[in-house]
Amino acid sequence: MSALTDLFGIRTPVILGPFGGLSSVRLTAAVSEAGGLGSYGLYGYDADRIRATIAELRAAAGAPFAVNIWLPTGDEVAPGPEHEGYAAALAPFFAEVGVEAPARPERYLPPLEEQVDAILEAAPPVLSVVFGVPSAALVEEAHRRGIRVVGTATTVAEARVLAEGGVDAIVATGAEAAGHRVSFLGPAEESLVGLFSLLPQVVGAVAVPVIAAGGIADRRGVAAAFALGAQGVQVGTAFLGTAESAATAAHRDAIRATPAEGTVLTRAMSGRLARGARNRVVAEIEAAGSIAPFPAQNWITGRFRTPAGEQNRGDLQSLWMGQSAPLARYGTAAEAFTELAAGVPRD
Ligand SMILES: Cc1cc2nc3c(=O)[nH]c(=O)nc-3n(C[C@H](O)[C@H](O)[C@H](O)COP(=O)(O)O)c2cc1C
Repeated sequence: MSALTDLFGIRTPVILGPFGGLSSVRLTAAVSEAGGLGSYGLYGYDADRIRATIAELRAAAGAPFAVNIWLPTGDEVAPGPEHEGYAAALAPFFAEVGVEAPARPERYLPPLEEQVDAILEAAPPVLSVVFGVPSAALVEEAHRRGIRVVGTATTVAEARVLAEGGVDAIVATGAEAAGHRVSFLGPAEESLVGLFSLLPQVVGAVAVPVIAAGGIADRRGVAAAFALGAQGVQVGTAFLGTAESAATAAHRDAIRATPAEGTVLTRAMSGRLARGARNRVVAEIEAAGSIAPFPAQNWITGRFRTPAGEQNRGDLQSLWMGQSAPLARYGTAAEAFTELAAGVPRD
């Protein structure tokens, strides 16, 4: 037992990372049932969907699990008259999948308060957050309801303010990781620290348990993270390619086919910096040079990414993956979990 396994009430300190927009109850439950901590990304979910999802997770997992939300950073745009221009810039992609460019919605994202109220009411075992420090009121209310709170840092400075904010554990996420760079103190482009550098520095800076994320895809990565002071690991890409994941077949194929140097950090798909394969849609949006701010770009591209997924077209989806994609070769979540768990030091 370590402070982290105690904190979460789990046997094995291997955490499935949340996948905003791409989490599956099946995968989350599989990792929790195996003795780790499955996480589920609630990005963009309204209160009803949050309540339903947490109820499903509770029924399916029978063991502790985590849910994840994105905190607002204050620079999010609301739907305005610019919307039509943003959508028009992406017109060729809507035409390719055979749908109309989307009209301006009432909102791009549900408000944080709506999400938080639903989560507090449902009281999942663990709540992890990205893009900031949860408010003192949120941490206090979560603790009162028995919910553990986890923050996410891309720099030592972010880890320090999260610790001061009263979180129970911190994910230190290196620049190798899949998906969005969740920096909140400085620009994402200036917060790109690799995990080997970031992890021991964060461990040295805070007293709470640190969870390592970014590029960990087999027992060697897990052992290295523990050697550098982590008490747990959070893994994304290695689980995303498994049978229980919600990734499309094209996405899984891309994970198997993309070399370490084949991923890029791009704002093309969402308006915020994120790591994924440099497929045709990323290359063409970057070349066109007009990218709407977050979350407009994310909402609008989502309207062609969903049909592209249904048509299994990898060239028009967000193929989020990390630099260790070539190591993500597992058929099932159990296979991936067994391999990763083998790297946890025995005490
Ligand atoms: C499709 C996708 C979506 C993700 N969405 C989120 C998210 O909403 N919140 C979050 O904290 N991390 C998110 N991540 C990051 C993962 O949870 C995890 O920390 C990361 O993948 C670890 O790096 P690795 O892929 O190299 O293992 C996402 C990753 C992927 C691949």
